[in-house]
Amino acid sequence: MLELVNISKKFKQNYAVRNLNMFIERGEIVGLLGPNGAGKSTAISIMSSLVEPTQGDIYFNNHRILKKPKPLRKITGIVPQEIALYIDLTAEENLQFFGRIYQLKGAKLKERVNDVLQIIGLTDRRKEVVKKFSGGMKRRLNIGVALLHEPELIIMDEPTVGIDAQSRNYILETVKRLNKEKNVTVLYTSHYMEEVEYLCDRIYIMDKGNLIASGTKEEIRRILSGEKTIVIKANRLTELFINELKTHPLINSINVEEKQITIMVAKEVNMFADLIKLAEKASLELSSVNIKTPTLEDVFLHLTGRALRD
Ligand SMILES: Nc1ncnc2c1ncn2[C@@H]1O[C@H](COP(=O)(O)OP(=O)(O)O)[C@@H](O)[C@H]1O
Ligand SMILES: [Mg+2]
Repeated sequence: MLELVNISKKFKQNYAVRNLNMFIERGEIVGLLGPNGAGKSTAISIMSSLVEPTQGDIYFNNHRILKKPKPLRKITGIVPQEIALYIDLTAEENLQFFGRIYQLKGAKLKERVNDVLQIIGLTDRRKEVVKKFSGGMKRRLNIGVALLHEPELIIMDEPTVGIDAQSRNYILETVKRLNKEKNVTVLYTSHYMEEVEYLCDRIYIMDKGNLIASGTKEEIRRILSGEKTIVIKANRLTELFINELKTHPLINSINVEEKQITIMVAKEVNMFADLIKLAEKASLELSSVNIKTPTLEDVFLHLTGRALRD
């Protein structure tokens, strides 16, 4: 349906996106994952013809569309990262306003506004002004705007940042439902691994403008098929202990949080004895040591040496 070939975007001296190759097939939910600054929004702006790439081509149904973006625009609904709503208008008035921009009117506009309110679960709040809405409700309405013209492709830019768990689940379920019931194709952008893991068939992972991994979940996990993840918890962590782990010859990567360290080692390595010895040496008490099979989050850690979470 949509293909990006060797897309790069330079702002002054810096690449926001570099040599990005990706495709989206009709009916898929594709994940675009990466931490802040990875280049996700820039990639989306290029697909939406809001930003012109420095280099590369975009194909829609096998036609080059960089110079003629209209056919793609017509069937695409974009959910921007920043909420774009009129806060003094009601939910319904916002949808009516944006519906008219999409050339909807009369009975058709009414029908679409009703449908969308139903999809985003705001039917009973339709008469309320948006400034009274919670962050989650604003997000849902922001998504609703992108659904008004019944798009075949929805591109969502971090639609769940900073909202309550309930709205977040609602949004995830809505994306699944639109895909299943209406065969809507979705590009879902996030820096939350578990969302992408839950929703998506295929995943692209970006970091600092570069694509660092892509494929099905299984394919990406297989990058780490020879490794295991060990999560070490302690009441407090000392520099000595952390440094011992950082310089340990059998530890391939390490991520330090407040009271928890995650390390990756080869599958066959047994670290228990070493960990206990090092903890004793640093005179700290371990509260737990857990071994897990690597998650997609661990793949990111492995490829970049950093955790995905901010
Ligand atoms: N209009 C712009 N001018 C200059 N630099 C930009 C602009 N837009 C984005 N960037 C830079 O490009 C990089 C990628 O940004 P962005 O695409 O917003 O990442 P993400 O959405 O993954 O957080 C960042 O370093 C950002 O500062
Ligand atoms: Mg962004």
